Amino acid sequence: MSSPATHSPSARGNAEALRNIWHPVAFVETLGEAPIPADLLGEPLVIWRDSTGTAKAMSDLCIHRGTALSLGRVEGDEIICAYHAWRFASDGRCTAIPQLADPTKVPAKARIATHHCQERYGLIWVSLDEPRWDLPEIPEFETDGWVLVNTGPYTWESDASRQLENFTDFGHFPWVHPGLLGDPERPVVPEHEVRTDGHVLHYEIIRPEAPNSDDFPVFNNEETEVPTRRSRYELHLPYTIALRLGWGGDDGMVYLFASQPCGPDTSRGYVVIGRNYNFEQPDSVLKDFEDVIFNQDQVVVESQRPERVPFDLADELHLKFDAVAVNYRRAMRANGLTTD
Ligand code: FES
Ligand SMILES: [Fe+2]
Repeated sequence: MSSPATHSPSARGNAEALRNIWHPVAFVETLGEAPIPADLLGEPLVIWRDSTGTAKAMSDLCIHRGTALSLGRVEGDEIICAYHAWRFASDGRCTAIPQLADPTKVPAKARIATHHCQERYGLIWVSLDEPRWDLPEIPEFETDGWVLVNTGPYTWESDASRQLENFTDFGHFPWVHPGLLGDPERPVVPEHEVRTDGHVLHYEIIRPEAPNSDDFPVFNNEETEVPTRRSRYELHLPYTIALRLGWGGDDGMVYLFASQPCGPDTSRGYVVIGRNYNFEQPDSVLKDFEDVIFNQDQVVVESQRPERVPFDLADELHLKFDAVAVNYRRAMRANGLTTD
């Protein structure tokens, strides 16, 4: 098993335990006939589709001279290196070396490391080693009556743990997103409890939200004078959240947020948003809304030190309303996903 890059203190300690986890590496829509590169835990990967359209993930380093296979092309069930045209099957075996008199006399060492890969919820997910847990179940995304919009990805100079915590941090909404996600006149974080079940944290909050803005009429909270939203969270360790929003009626939204741990202190957040109303609204409204929100967050989160969440509770000051952060840190340690 190769060791991941460890250039900064924040990349140390947990990377090995993150190898057998499903992480997002791209939106499905970005993978066509050409291979694409992706970084995961400091390892360069190439993602491509075989002749049946099945997505494959393997190391992006050609065994011959380290050229990026993502520069190459796919023919049938093989990917062909751009430099000397060696061909590799989807199990990583080299099948032909055109420089040889008999191109099929391939040495056994000519192999590329392959990884687990699946498509689900509009994303391509990779687990470098045998995956430890399944992806969250989001039946809304796989039934009729829901429309899905992809927003992002958002690439930040921060660890995926910081990006994840920011997505579920209740105290910042009125201050970083006034008028969009929170109301500075109502900054108190309501009571909430966190239940940890294995690697999943469950919590629910009914919190004040800003009235729908004219620019971004995305939430269905028009009926109430002082809008509140019910948010039901499932936080799947280490970096994925399924969030269900409601306002008391039948209309609902489901957010899937997943952060890709690209490398030391770089993360990329993908947000897939489903809704069962407002079908005619163009995707650009939600995309533009999330772009504004994530840009507001980015400057704050990139300033945080250390770049990765310090998992020792003594390292930061936690108050009662930080219950999610406290339980996240405890659960990450209990599941062996961090060593600090
Ligand atoms: S570097 Fe890939 S075939 Fe030579
Ligand atoms: Fe935010």
